[in-house]
Formats: sequence, C-alpha cells, structure tokens
Amino acid sequence: SFFFFFLIKFAKLISNTIPKMIIYSRNRRLRANSSIRALVQETVLTTNDLVMPIFVMEGTDKQEPIPSMPGIFRRTLDLTVKECKELNSMGVKAVNLYMKVSENLKDNKGTESWNKNGLMQNTIKAIKDAVPGMIVMPDVALDPYSIFGHDGIITNGKVDNDATNDALVKMSVSHAEAGADILAPSDMMDGRVAAIRTGLEEGGFTDVGILSYAAKYASSFYGPFRSALDSAPKENADIPKDKKTYQMDFHNSREAIDEVMKDVAEGADIIMIKPGMPYLDIVAKVRDAIDLPIAVYNVSGEYAMLKAAAQNGWLDNDKAIIESLTCIKRAGADMIFTYAAKEAAVLLNK
Ligand code: PBG
Repeated sequence: SFFFFFLIKFAKLISNTIPKMIIYSRNRRLRANSSIRALVQETVLTTNDLVMPIFVMEGTDKQEPIPSMPGIFRRTLDLTVKECKELNSMGVKAVNLYMKVSENLKDNKGTESWNKNGLMQNTIKAIKDAVPGMIVMPDVALDPYSIFGHDGIITNGKVDNDATNDALVKMSVSHAEAGADILAPSDMMDGRVAAIRTGLEEGGFTDVGILSYAAKYASSFYGPFRSALDSAPKENADIPKDKKTYQMDFHNSREAIDEVMKDVAEGADIIMIKPGMPYLDIVAKVRDAIDLPIAVYNVSGEYAMLKAAAQNGWLDNDKAIIESLTCIKRAGADMIFTYAAKEAAVLLNK
C-alpha cells in the first residue's frame, strides 16, 4: 500500500504540470436561457403553416366522433361551415376536404365524384360563401366514391390508370366550378397532374392550383382515415387487396425524387409528401431538389399514435404536437396537413 501511496502522489505531481484543458467552443453558451435560445432559433412554427383535413357527411346539425382519431369528427355541412369559420378566426388558412359517401352512391367509376350537386361540390360552395378567406383544397381521388375502395377504376382486376385520369379530370373541373382554390389529387395515377392541368385550362380555370401528392407511400399509417370514410380496399379476390400498384414502396427514396420531378414538370403548384414523421428523410431530400412549396401530410396514424400515448399519460399531448409539427417544418415543409391543426393553433395563439 505504500507503493500505491507513492504512485498516486507521483501521478498527481505529473497531472499538475499539465495545463487545465481549455474548451474553446461551447455550444451550451447559446442555450443558457430562453432569450438566447429564441435569438438563435432556426425554425418557427406559426398558424400560417397549418392545413386542417375535414370529414363531411350528409345531413344537418350532426357530428360523429371518429374513435381511432380522438377529437376528430365527421360533420354535416352546416356544422362544417361553422368549424371553418372558427378555424379561420384562429388563423388556420386552409382546409382539405373529404366526403363520407353513402354506399348506394358508390360505383366502380366514382360517378358521384363529379356530380355538380354532390356533397363535395356543395361543401366547397358553402365554405367559400361563408369564409371567402379560407383556402379550400378538395381531395381528388375516387376511393370514397368507389365500390371497391380503390383510388382508381378497376378494369380486368387492375387499377386502370388512364380511365381513372379521365374521371379525375371530370371531378377536378366540377370542384373548380364549385369554387375550389387548390385541388389536391391524392390518387398516384401516372400523368394525372398534366391531365388535370389541361382540363382546368380548357375549362377556363387558369387560377385554380394543383397540390399534387407526388410522393405518397403505400402506408399502414392511413388506417384511421380509411375507417373514418369507410374507404379501405374491399375484401374481394378479383381486385388488388392493397394500394401497392399505385402508391410508393416505403423501401424507396430515390424514386420519390423521380415522382416529384415529373409532377413539377406536369404543372403542379405545390408538392406533397406523405406520410410525415417516418418520412422526413424524403422531405429533406425533396427540399434540396426543388424550389416549389412542399406540403407534408402528418397522417391519421401518426395522429392516432400521439393521441393514444397522450390519453395513457405516456406523452405530453401539447408538447408532442408542437414538437412534431416543428420538426416536420424543420425537415423542409412549407405547410403541414395535420388533424392537430386546431389544437396547434390554440397553443400557438397563447
Ligand atoms: C385517399 C387518401 C388517403 C389519405 C388521404 N387521401 C388514404 C389512402 O390513400 O388510402 C390518407 C390520410 C390520412 O391517413 O390521414 N386517396
């Protein structure tokens, strides 16, 4: 033990001759208090970034909760207009519309989707009349109108790209006639942005924009949405059981750039990437590749996960909402479609 005593003495003697290490660069200086943190903050989330998806159903003065999406309702048109007024007064500037279509109105071609007096067309008109400042973005896809629950028309057991495009053009023009500001095709058919653009130009709707779901993946995170609209692909041996022949394979990343570039070339005004949180690498990559605005869809499954954890007391609801939306913006989003838009607006307006 005498030996160790001298060994320690000797070690101390040596270490005292070494100067104390100087750390020239200390990142913690700029985190010391909330004022300095605010000065160096790179990303700022505001209500300008939020788009609220809305589910509409037939009838009056009714709303139905969607069990897998706590806090989200299907509403009749009158209550939808009221909700839009409220959202707009809170600073939310855009809504994305989805219709719950009754089974008797569904067919293979989605004929109801271009009915001039359809629920979608009447909803667009009513919102634009009551809240002209609200940007109305109707969803353009056949699935809520299809007996098969697919985004396209089925021909010989397959989703028929070009026949679907013809239907999407009719649907788009009917939305434009009703007063829509920006159409949001979510179907993933090839060439549909060019087809819709041509249809709009020919119809005289030169000011109606296209927000194209350019990189939309075949994702399990759409489950709660499909239960909200009863729009999941139907169990039927003669039709594809999933959407993998048109939505993207989640193993792929370069392909997203190819999809985006084609939609840009076809005349899209805004590019969508979907889902959001598990796909932020794609968002960052697309951000580097294009200068058009990027929309990101924080989808129903992402919302459901957050709500389930918050309801169990496992996550702080408010903090998790603001953090997820800010991170989506940090990755490169200019706008975020999110079911938490209203809640986020309340928090941001505090
Ligand atoms: C359908 C459509 C879907 C969503 C938006 N439009 C579902 C799907 O592609 O099956 C998903 C939205 C969400 O999950 O929040 N064209």
